[in-house]
Amino acid sequence: MSVESRVLSGYIPRHIAIIMDGNGRWAKKRNMPRTFGHKKGSENLKNIAIECNELGIKALSVYAFSTENWSRPKAEIDYLMNLPSKFEETFKGKFEENDIRVIFSGRKNRFPKNVQDLIKRVEEKTKNRKGLILNICFDYGSYTEILDGVKEISELYKNGDIKLEDINEDLMKNHLYTKELPDLDLLIRTSGEERISNFLLWQLAYSELYFPKVHWPAFNKKQLLKAIDNFQKRNRRFGGLKEEK
Ligand code: FPP
Repeated sequence: MSVESRVLSGYIPRHIAIIMDGNGRWAKKRNMPRTFGHKKGSENLKNIAIECNELGIKALSVYAFSTENWSRPKAEIDYLMNLPSKFEETFKGKFEENDIRVIFSGRKNRFPKNVQDLIKRVEEKTKNRKGLILNICFDYGSYTEILDGVKEISELYKNGDIKLEDINEDLMKNHLYTKELPDLDLLIRTSGEERISNFLLWQLAYSELYFPKVHWPAFNKKQLLKAIDNFQKRNRRFGGLKEEK
C-alpha cells in the first residue's frame, strides 16, 4: 500500500500547524539572498495548502511573521510585509478553485495601511468558502494572543457580563484567534529546529509534534504524507490510558 493510500484510510488530522522554518538557510545553500528563500517558501505555502485541502484537512495554521521578527534587518521586513500582496496576486485563482478560505491571526494594527487593507479584503472575499481554512499567523505571538484573550475576559467580568465561575477552558478558547478552528492535532516545524518559539502555546497542549530536517521551501507532498503517516501511528492518550487490545 502506498503511503498516500495508507494515510487516506486513517484518521486525517483536522488541524495542522506549521512553523515554516529554514527559508534563509535553504537560500544560502544555493548562494541566493534570504529573500529568495522567503519567495520560494511563499510559493510552497500555496502548494501545501492545496495538498492539505485535497487530503480533507479542515485548517492549516502557519507561522509567517512573529511578534519578534520585527528585529530583523529592515530590508527583510519590507520583503516579508510585501508577501501577502504577492500571495494574493499569484494564488487567488488557485485558492478560488479549491474553495480555500484565508484568515490572518495576530496584531493587525502595526502593518503598513496597504497590508491592513489587503488582509481585510482577503478575509472578506473568502469568508464563505467551505474548503480548508488557511490561517496565516502574521505579527503573531502566543503571549500576546493569550494576554489579549485575558483582557477581553477581564472586561466581561468587570462589566458584570460573566461571573468568576464562568471563566473556564471553553471561554478562554473562545477568546483566542483560533476560536473558529478545530483543536490542533499536529505541529510540524521544518529545518530540524525543535522549539515552539511562542507559537500557539495554548492550542498545542495535546498536539503531536513533528520535526523533519528538511527546510521549508523543500517540504513537499511526500514530506506532508510522511508527517501524517507518523502522526497516525502515535497513541494519543490526552492524559488518560488506552484500553489494552
Ligand atoms: C523562517 O525562516 C521563515 C520566516 C520568518 C518567514 C516565513 C514566511 C513565508 C514562508 C511566507 C509567508 C507567506 C505569506 C503569504 C505571508 P528563517 O528566515 O528564519 O530561515 P533561517 O532559520 O534559515 O534563517
